[in-house]
Amino acid sequence: MTRFSASPSIPQLQQHWRQMADVQMQDLFASDPQRFERFSLEACGILLDYSKNRIRDETLGLLGQLAEERQLPTWIQRMFSGEAINNTEQRAVLHVALRNDPAQPIRVNGEDVMPGVERVLGQMERLSEAIRNGSWSGHGGQRITDVVNIGIGGSNLGPLMVCEALRPYWQSGLRLHFVSNVDGTHLSETLRPLKAETTLFIVASKTFTTQETLSNAFSARAWLLDQLHDEQAVAAHFIAISTNRAKVEAFGIDSNHMLEFWDWVGGRYSLWSAIGFPIAVAIGMDRFRQLLAGARCMDQHFRQAPLAANMPVILALLGIWYSNFAGASSQAILPYDQYLRYLPDYLQQADMESNGKSVTRDGEAVDYPTGPIIWGSAGTDGQHAYYQLIHQGGHLIPCDFIAPVNSHNELGDQHLKLISNFLAQPEALMRGKSAEQARAELEAAGVSGERLELLARHKTFPGNRPSNSLMFDRLTPEVLGSLIALYEHKIFVQGVLWGLNSYDQWGVELGKELANRILPELRGEPGQGRHDSSTQGLIRHFLQHRQSD
Ligand code: F6P
Repeated sequence: MTRFSASPSIPQLQQHWRQMADVQMQDLFASDPQRFERFSLEACGILLDYSKNRIRDETLGLLGQLAEERQLPTWIQRMFSGEAINNTEQRAVLHVALRNDPAQPIRVNGEDVMPGVERVLGQMERLSEAIRNGSWSGHGGQRITDVVNIGIGGSNLGPLMVCEALRPYWQSGLRLHFVSNVDGTHLSETLRPLKAETTLFIVASKTFTTQETLSNAFSARAWLLDQLHDEQAVAAHFIAISTNRAKVEAFGIDSNHMLEFWDWVGGRYSLWSAIGFPIAVAIGMDRFRQLLAGARCMDQHFRQAPLAANMPVILALLGIWYSNFAGASSQAILPYDQYLRYLPDYLQQADMESNGKSVTRDGEAVDYPTGPIIWGSAGTDGQHAYYQLIHQGGHLIPCDFIAPVNSHNELGDQHLKLISNFLAQPEALMRGKSAEQARAELEAAGVSGERLELLARHKTFPGNRPSNSLMFDRLTPEVLGSLIALYEHKIFVQGVLWGLNSYDQWGVELGKELANRILPELRGEPGQGRHDSSTQGLIRHFLQHRQSD
């Protein structure tokens, strides 16, 4: 396959950006009263308004042409049919099977994976129900009140984000906690108010070899035994979720209390699998299935809708427009919903671990920008922090604004205030404020002379800054499933166009290797190699100032 930068439509898109760079979106709106209708679409309960982008029909036509040149439709089929598109790890990429209709087989190496998916869903149902209805009791016979998920990366961020997003659906009397950091503070502070008799640990790790997770799991085990003084207690207080049965058994967790998943589920795409067990505990299995149904709806839309009316494809192509032609290097995710406050963190891993790469799937170095820096936080907090830079800074930062029409917590007119901000920010980013407008406002306020000229320059907003707005009726399990799947497929499309394997993550390995080499030195053992003088100096400083217990 030709490389991205050699695709026939690239020179046309470059030329087209030169034409569009100075086109004012406001003028595009003024000349086309139907612009919102033409550049918005609804799917699976989500409205996407992408009219506040520097695009015309021609832009989308050329980007669509690029998607065809990169054989996107074929790649979609390849993913859904279970082909080993994760070529470096020789694995299929089948998070879509986890929310597939069980009557529709999906085969990996000739074997239908759907019966296994259904079996684990059944196990999740039995176990989560037992915890929720109290028939699963702790070692001393007490009901479980606190469930602590120990995992990191995909074994943390997905369940954490979804559990927080769906807090209104939590069973009362049952609290979920998430511990990920190897910093002992995370586990210690989480466990401080808890009682071992009523606490259940879920150790979630695809590989069951991850340093952070195993360290926290061993410490949690020690905390439990310290209070319950009986090795038998471990069975009633630990559940494991992994692809690695041997390692789970070696840790001492009863294999009847292990929920399995498979190597064709990538860690950052695993919340739909047994890794989503904390979600099932929090909201119940019926609602977990609604989450899956929402994702399935987006999967079907993604497979069936023509590229020009395909929500994940449109989001992906707009991202490529700004990254590869307009020079944007980041993308802000701005949910105006406190329940979605972990969405930017979740998407950081989903996107940056997938497409933060500079070698193509065939091993060639890329000569074009790939995955953007993903960042953001829940509105309106960011407005009082970093929006200054989005409005007046020197970077072009495409923004996704996300909000529910109806809140779970209306509180007087607070939701209307929230939404007025959600609507105002994209409008302000697009409109900006000209020097003339700023001057007129200052004059009206009685400012004149040099001070007026100085302030007018500071109060000018360049505007013409792009954004997408996404709205849905209310943050339900189903809508959340659709929203997550939307971004998953967006990431897939961008990876396909850039020629990347979005499903490996070799870039996380080197730091882990070096940390493993340094650890013995911090224990005072001889080093396994030389360091640069900086690292050496820091190690020396640490050892000199370390207080002995
Ligand atoms: O270090 C990165 C990573 O491998 C992620 O891809 C993964 O989600 C995370 O670590 C946790 O891995 P595991 O589930 O195997 O503990």
